[in-house]
Amino acid sequence: MRIIGTGSSLPKKVVTNDMLSEFLDTSDEWIVPRTGIRSRHVISDEELEDLAADAAAKALAASGLKTSDIDYFICSNVVNEYLTPGLSCIIGYKLGLTCPCVDINCACPGFIYALDIVEARWKAGKLHNALIVCAEEPSRMTSWQDRSTCVLFGDGAGAVVLTDGDNIRGINLHAEPSPDKIWQKRILEPTPYITKEEVSVPLQMKGRDVFRFAVNASTTQVEALLSECGMTKDDVTYYMVHQANARIIDSIKQYLAEPEEKFPSNIADHGNSSSASCTILLDETNRKGLLKKGDILVFSAFGAGLLSAAAVLEW
Ligand code: COA
Repeated sequence: MRIIGTGSSLPKKVVTNDMLSEFLDTSDEWIVPRTGIRSRHVISDEELEDLAADAAAKALAASGLKTSDIDYFICSNVVNEYLTPGLSCIIGYKLGLTCPCVDINCACPGFIYALDIVEARWKAGKLHNALIVCAEEPSRMTSWQDRSTCVLFGDGAGAVVLTDGDNIRGINLHAEPSPDKIWQKRILEPTPYITKEEVSVPLQMKGRDVFRFAVNASTTQVEALLSECGMTKDDVTYYMVHQANARIIDSIKQYLAEPEEKFPSNIADHGNSSSASCTILLDETNRKGLLKKGDILVFSAFGAGLLSAAAVLEW
């Protein structure tokens, strides 16, 4: 497949580190050196599905396709207000889609997992035009009394439209299932028969374990995938790395021994927006006019699961 349109949409409320330090024992001086984050967009009166539909509409407009041209839609999302129907159906309704609407919860690498699915269906001759939307509101997952998690995240949505083409050069997916590293639980409706103890727990994260996993998984996958594609690092125009933390991105950059200018970044004013991160970064880089036909983009993302993924795309 080939990406022919990108879009993104952000909540209007911008929360700076100084605003956080008004109610949390934290500071800009602590957050910036450890994460690279200065501010983040956080949902206030918006609905996530509206941001998602807005990002999708922009990607569709850029692609020149109509909603009726789309024959497969995947929404990547971790948490939203609806347990059912899937967020894809809610967004699909807003857009007027009539194609299959599919949801995946593959955490931060969700965009690459979605790419893998549409590429496989395309290779099987089952679609021509696909829409992927990554919509996330991690600000609603963390406790805002927990300074070790809530400072890290921001909300938003990103979208891509794909059509026939052979621009996806390779995809590499990886899992190290360990549900105690990043997790959140909520209580379901009670029944007369539930005897087990149940608790609702906001997002928990073993930050240092996740850091190690992210750097190791990303560098291993990127090198393996480039070699599988018959490419070297010299062929790469940009690394589109999941914007979780500037220190993670710096470690990846150092390990790969690649220059700063190959790593577009928006972590400073977005924070970690989970699977939306790579798609928002792609859209912003695209709209700045930085992408040229033939550029090689390497996507790399990692997160809860633990899951990670890499993809090599020709622009
Ligand atoms: N402000 C001030 N102090 C904070 C703080 C904050 N926002 N968050 C944590 N601290 C404190 C801790 O309470 C702890 O204090 P203590 O020593 O008195 O107990 C101290 O800072 C060190 O905490 P620790 O969690 O060990 O810090 P760290 O150096 O590991 O940095 C992260 C924390 C989260 C920045 C780091 O682990 C990280 O970047 N992990 C990867 C997380 C990530 O990006 N996950 C998403 C991947 S998808």
